[in-house]
Parts: sequence; C-alpha cells; structure tokens
Amino acid sequence: MKKEDYHFSYEVYDSINDLTGQDALLLSEARKVTASAYAPYSNFNVGAVAELENGEIVKGTNQENASYPVGLCAERSLLASAASLFPNVAINTMAISYNNVNGQSNRPISPCGMCRQSLVEYEERVNKPIRLIMSGQEGKVIVVEKADALLPFSFRSEDLK
Ligand code: THU
Repeated sequence: MKKEDYHFSYEVYDSINDLTGQDALLLSEARKVTASAYAPYSNFNVGAVAELENGEIVKGTNQENASYPVGLCAERSLLASAASLFPNVAINTMAISYNNVNGQSNRPISPCGMCRQSLVEYEERVNKPIRLIMSGQEGKVIVVEKADALLPFSFRSEDLK
C-alpha cells in the first residue's frame, strides 16, 4: 500500500475590486445576468458569463421547471450555448454568481457536482482548462485555475473504452 496526496491551490480575493480588469468585468456581468434566471421554485438565481478563446462572451442562467429535476443550472446552460454557437472553441474563464432572493448572496458559489462533471468534459473536449471565478453579489471571490481541480477522480470518456 502507498498513500498519495491530492492538492490544489486557489486564490481568494476580498472583493471584486481586487481582480484584474477583465476578471472584474466577467464577474460583474455574471452578477447582472442573474436577473435573467428562471428560478421561481428555488428563488436562487444563478448567472454565469464566460470569455471564449475567440474573444466571444457567452452567458447562461439557471432554468427551472415545475417538474423540478428538469431544471438546468446556469453553468450547463452556458456550456450548451457555447458549444452550439462556437463549437470546438475553448473557454478561457467562466465567472459564476447568484442572487438568493430569500437570503444572503455574499458567500462564493461553487458549481454543483453535475456541473463539475460537465465542465471537466468540456475542458477535455477542447483541450484547455477553464478558469473559474466564483462569488456572490458581493464579498469574497475565489478563483480556481481549472474546473478539473474541483472533481478529482472524475469519470471520463476514456473510462468507457
Ligand atoms: N444552481 C445553479 O444554476 N448553479 C450552481 O452552481 C448551483 C445551483 C441552480 C440549480 C437550481 O435552479 C437552483 O440553483 C437551486 O439549487
């Protein structure tokens, strides 16, 4: 038997004011686009904004449904849109934010497990890591260099071979 370690580093910023210009812009747009979410059941509006390698900006919001499991998260809504509009173009950075209508919105958001799985496969598909900027409407910001770091031991296409 041998023991192995898994380790990853991430950046923590006190606020959006400490980010570089482009990162601050993406986060500010992600905060704004939460207004386009369709989340009448959870009242938890999520917004994601990504800058693609070709310079295009793509947005996504969560889209819920009266049949709850049908609902789609903002991150996967964005990925579906990016892949449809700009197939095979890598995503440089994705900013994610939320507005919790019935509560606070100052803790950084973190993508759900299903979205992590989708993000990892997107990285693999276009062969480039996606930087994630995660925050609420205000307060702390966390930056991770690749979505893959959030899902160690992920199930991948090669596992199907
Ligand atoms: N949600 C997202 O869109 N992204 C996340 O990272 C976390 C959760 C959505 C799913 C559901 O519509 C609502 O937020 C509450 O879970």
